[in-house]
Amino acid sequence: MKIALLGASGMLGSKIADVFRARGHELDCPPHAEADLEHPHTLERFFNSHAFDALVNCAAFTQVDACEEPAKFSMSLNVNGTAVGWLAKLCKKSNRILVHYSTDYVFDGRKEEPYVETDPTDPVNTYGRTKLQGEKLVLAENPFFYLVRSSWVYGPKGRNFVDTVVGLFKTRARLEVVDDQVGGPTYTGDLALFTGELLEKKAAPGTYHFAGSGYVSWYGFAKEIQKQTGLTRCEIVGVPSERVFRPAERPANSRFDLSKAAQAVGRAPRPWSEALKDYLEHELAASRV
Ligand SMILES: NC(=O)c1ccc[n+]([C@@H]2O[C@H](COP(=O)([O-])OP(=O)(O)OC[C@H]3O[C@@H](n4cnc5c(N)ncnc54)[C@H](OP(=O)(O)O)[C@@H]3O)[C@@H](O)[C@H]2O)c1
Repeated sequence: MKIALLGASGMLGSKIADVFRARGHELDCPPHAEADLEHPHTLERFFNSHAFDALVNCAAFTQVDACEEPAKFSMSLNVNGTAVGWLAKLCKKSNRILVHYSTDYVFDGRKEEPYVETDPTDPVNTYGRTKLQGEKLVLAENPFFYLVRSSWVYGPKGRNFVDTVVGLFKTRARLEVVDDQVGGPTYTGDLALFTGELLEKKAAPGTYHFAGSGYVSWYGFAKEIQKQTGLTRCEIVGVPSERVFRPAERPANSRFDLSKAAQAVGRAPRPWSEALKDYLEHELAASRV
């Protein structure tokens, strides 16, 4: 397929580009300035002057805490919300498939069970509200779309929890990690593969939840990273969220029910700890040589 990819310099976008190329797709990755989500005329120009079958949108403003700053609000709403509506409209007008990503942060985290795609949304922070606005605009335009919600994403070429704690294990004697938020860590390689399979198998359009299989707290995730890296000199201490001040509140429950995703591609996502092993062995190690 011919795929246009926005946000190819980012953590997920760079992995999508690698995985899609390896699967034989033709990629067109405009730089930020050539398809700028803050400037709709650049998007219209791109759509009118490039040939592609599907648009994969990995571009977003992802700094969750910065979204709480009043000075960043309108930019984050434009990039994560309004511009996604433009993309949906442009895809619909030109009969192209839209793939867009969203987040567990559209939920309030108060459900006792894992979230299914149809559960009511109610974000607890500004980032979640801007991403929800993007979702609503995609659904309102109703083109041929895949809206993939993911959680706790990590991979090469991005700021993420795994790289951060590996760095801290080497320099700190003690590390406090939140133990009352539970979710599913997601390796970008697995999310990229899932996205490719949705397109290749022509899965039913709609919303999908995708993460590594199984659930863990941030504390449990840090412990597993420590176990797998053997960086055991740092003591990890589990603490409640109130102890770690962050401008944006996070949901306590970020668990996704993954059965719809599994049915769409014919298999369940692999366990999160297996994906972590792959990342630590092949990518994090390689990036530090
Ligand atoms: N990271 C997570 O834990 C996580 C969890 C769930 C869902 N997601 C979703 O997954 C998607 C990808 O996230 P990510 O972590 O890969 O993000 P990322 O690493 O922050 O990358 C964001 C990308 O968007 C581009 N971008 C930012 N503003 C833009 C604009 N105005 N116009 C065009 N491009 C712009 C950036 O380009 P420049 O570098 O040139 O600015 C960069 O390539 C997002 O939709 C995010 O909401 C992420």
